[in-house]
Parts: sequence; structure tokens; C-alpha cells
Amino acid sequence: MGNKKRIGILTSGGDCPGLNCVIRAVISHATLTYNWEVLGIPYATQGLLERKAIALNMHGLDLRGIDPLLSMGGTILGTINKGDTLAHAGEIIASYEALGLDALIVICGDGSLAILHELASLGKWNLIAIPKTIDNDVALTERAIGFDTAVSTIVDALNRLTFTAPSHDRVMVVEVMGRAAGHLALHSGIAGGADVILIPEIPYSITSICRHLVELRVRWQRKFAIMVVAEGAKTANDSFSCTTAESSHAPVCGLGQYIAEQVDYCSAKKIDMRVSVLGHIQRGGIPSALDRLTATVFGKAAVDLVAQEKYGLMVAWQNGQAVAVPLKEVVAKSPLSVDPHSELVEVASSVGIYIGETV
Ligand code: F6P
Repeated sequence: MGNKKRIGILTSGGDCPGLNCVIRAVISHATLTYNWEVLGIPYATQGLLERKAIALNMHGLDLRGIDPLLSMGGTILGTINKGDTLAHAGEIIASYEALGLDALIVICGDGSLAILHELASLGKWNLIAIPKTIDNDVALTERAIGFDTAVSTIVDALNRLTFTAPSHDRVMVVEVMGRAAGHLALHSGIAGGADVILIPEIPYSITSICRHLVELRVRWQRKFAIMVVAEGAKTANDSFSCTTAESSHAPVCGLGQYIAEQVDYCSAKKIDMRVSVLGHIQRGGIPSALDRLTATVFGKAAVDLVAQEKYGLMVAWQNGQAVAVPLKEVVAKSPLSVDPHSELVEVASSVGIYIGETV
């Protein structure tokens, strides 16, 4: 506890609101409570490869200076979510030693976690991870930084569409992020009053969607509807597959547009459809109160683990508190899919939402 440490911090994977709140908490606790040195590694493993580090301290970012980090989206350290990191493993691993780090705190999602865990095992780094992702698909934690803000951003969009849709008797298709996991679509769809939610884990059928929309019109005289479509949703035989841009995760086709065209066809053009693709709007913005709170709790917990010299762990949220879970286990169990038989899926269908074919 008494020995002065030099710790590194980096953000890796797609950005999200709340990353700067974690950075703020780590700097504050590490410098104010422990009087350690904190080095920010820019652009994740790219920064390590290039041996770059920025001193983050209470003098460079004094107490007033770091306050804006609470409300700033993005990451002041920069991040990457592509590239063949393991091809440069040797140089990256050596950088930890060259920078004289006693420990490294990484804020990342499941993809980066797996890579950083491997590098840490090979290089015998003292690693602590903090989960972040708007997809909320990191295993063994009930919360990941960024998810709550992204859900609120989508719900805000759904609120807006819920005014314009009935004015024109339209069906609005809202395409949201989620290539492999549908937590974001499921949570925001329920909270935002969607009539249809399509997620990668539960196959959908265009015929059933059409039937549902017609029933809303004929039986309930509800001529507008809101559909939330996760970008990776599929039919049982995967009739639409989205290719991804080279060296990127980003889909280059639009599932929302495809669904709208299919519904248009099966309803014999009787339903007026419009499509909104929320895209990276979901990754930007001001972090929510819950994300700020979780970020601050996680940042403090990560620094305390370093103080106790307990490594190879991820800070997680379980049963109302921050706990530490073995990184190895997190990597083995991630990404975490939506369980088609979960309570939330049951809740969705209980309030009349069409959520696919297995329910
Ligand atoms: O992994 C998070 C995520 O937001 C996905 O839901 C999305 O498909 C992807 O990142 C897009 O990443 P980018 O456009 O930054 O490559």
C-alpha cells in the first residue's frame, strides 16, 4: 500500500459515453489517495506499440480541469477497434516494461478484453479491466459503461418518432446497433414503447411482423407502429446477411431498410413505412447519471485492486455492488447473448411486442 506506483490507463474498442468518467475517477483516486503516477496510453495497443504515454496528474489536469470529464462523451485517450494487434505482440508486451508500469488499467469491451488478457498473460502484466460497451455483452457484470446512456439515446429517438408516426399513420423502423447481441434493442424497445423488437438471438419472420402490424390496425385501430431492429437480427434461415466493411465492424448494408421493403411488399404497399438509422448517435452524447456513477465506482475499485496488488481481474457490477471477477472467466463467457427465455423477453411479449418466433 505504501509503495509509490506508476500505473497506465487506456481505452480500447468502440468508444461510448462514460469512458472519460472512468479516467477521471482513476486519476483522482490514484493521485489523491495513493500519490501514484498515472500514464495515459493513447489509442490503446497502438500507443503501447509506439511507446507513447501522457502524464495524467492533478497538476496537468487540476481539480477544476478534470471536472469536465464527467460530462464529456468519447475518450480523451483515443481508442481503436481494428488492426492485427497480436501480430505485434512482442513489441507491445515489451512496451509495458519499457514504460516502467507497475500495473495497467484497461477500459474495454469483450473483443479488446480477449486480446489484452492474452497479451497480459504472455507478458506477465499486472492487468485490471473495467467493462464498457453499448452492447452490454460482457459476461459476469450486470453493468457496462455506456449502455445506460445509449438506451436513453434510443428511447429519446423513439419518443420523438412516436409523435410523428401517428400524424401520418406510419410505421417507423428504427435500426439500432447490435451485431451479435440484442440487449440494446431489447431494453430500449421495451422502455420506448416499441411494437416490434428484432434481435440477433431470436429469429424473426416477415409474415408474422406483417400479421402483427395488420392486427394493430384492424383490431386496435392503431395505424402507426414503432419497430426497433438490431442491425444483426436474422430470420431462421438468415435470409439477409450484412457484409461488413473491410477492417471495420461497421455494417455496410441496412437491415432496417430491408425490413421496411419486405413489410411494404407483404402488406401490398398498404403500410406507409419510414426508416431511421441511429448509427453512431448511439455512441455519442453526454453520459447518463447512472453511467457516471458506475464509472466512478468502477474507477475507484480498479485503483483499489492495484493497491492490493490483486491482478488478472475485471471490476464488475453484481447484486448492487462492485466486485472483482477473474478476467479468464469473463473472456471465456463473453460475448453474452440475450437469453431468448429470459424474463425481459417474456416481459416484451407480455405487453404485446412482437419479438420473434421462439416466444
Ligand atoms: O461493438 C460496439 C458497436 O457499437 C456495435 O454495436 C457496432 O456494430 C459497432 O460497434 C460499430 O463500430 P465501428 O463503426 O466503430 O467500427
